[in-house]
Amino acid sequence: MLGSFSSGTGCYIGEHEIITATIRDEPEPIIIVMGCRHLTQNNLLRPFLKWAGGKRQLLPEIRLYYPKRIGCYYEPFLGAGAVLFDLQPKRALVNDVNSELINTYRVIAHDVEALIHDLSHHRNEKAYYYQLRDLDRHEEFQHASDIERASRIIFLNKTCFNGLFRVNSQGHFNVPYGDYKNPKIVDAVVLRAVSKYLNANEIHLSSVDFEEALEDATRGDFVYLDPPYDPVSDTASFTGYNFNGFGRDEQIRLRSVFDNLTRRGCRVLLSNSATDFIKDLYRDYRMEIIGAVRAINSDASGRGKVDEVLVMNFDP
Ligand SMILES: C[S@@+](CC[C@H](N)C(=O)[O-])C[C@H]1O[C@@H](n2cnc3c(N)ncnc32)[C@H](O)[C@@H]1O
Repeated sequence: MLGSFSSGTGCYIGEHEIITATIRDEPEPIIIVMGCRHLTQNNLLRPFLKWAGGKRQLLPEIRLYYPKRIGCYYEPFLGAGAVLFDLQPKRALVNDVNSELINTYRVIAHDVEALIHDLSHHRNEKAYYYQLRDLDRHEEFQHASDIERASRIIFLNKTCFNGLFRVNSQGHFNVPYGDYKNPKIVDAVVLRAVSKYLNANEIHLSSVDFEEALEDATRGDFVYLDPPYDPVSDTASFTGYNFNGFGRDEQIRLRSVFDNLTRRGCRVLLSNSATDFIKDLYRDYRMEIIGAVRAINSDASGRGKVDEVLVMNFDP
């Protein structure tokens, strides 16, 4: 047994940033080169929201399995887009069933300066937070502009407890106030970088069910699937992305979409929690177990390190 790994970056050779893994438990640290990343990529591009199941911390491991050549990139469970912003494809179809989230991406693409201006008016105060949070309980919210709605989502995400997006069965945002000292409500540098990227490339945004979002994927395209997690235990269940949840029947439906994409010649990479159910569902495909620190969980006993599985239908 080699002990625990930690991954890192920060070493450069020519135009490449070297990604390493350090084995900590040895008497002398052993550093293994795990991959590299081309420096033409824009390092300012990164998620502008904190998202349940966000993949930022796992990127050094997920990156190792990106295919070398990519036609069009598909990401139907976009969330905060950690993989999209890491891969930075020139042609992509990205989607999330959460229409408030996709509205936010659209506003960043088309109206980023107005959004930054609107964000600068928010105040990190408890009473103000609840006033803005509870707007979706009122009829007038239907008339809020796209910019106001995007600004509200970013503000709530930065100031709510744990950066969750969670709605109740009526679709009302119900996360309590976070009471953080200095949340970065306006991250203009990142918002402008995201806006520039979305406009300078052929990035199509949609808000439909994942199956519909993948209808046009074809041979040579790369599909990254990051659905809501299969819960590790019943009590650790977290299905707060939207009020529909994502149960085992949905995971089974996703597996048949995975098979269908395989028949069409797409390269598909999927991440999920490494439960017996998921490992059995994808037993016909190549699987890699990677470590995950699950930062957002509605149940305290579900916190900590939970294994994650990467499933793929190709040799990277
Ligand atoms: C694990 S999160 C994705 C996280 C993302 N990879 C990141 O780095 O932030 C799963 C996403 O799937 C979305 N989702 C849930 N059900 C869906 C469906 N039926 N079709 C499309 N998206 C769905 C949720 O709104 C959520 O944003």
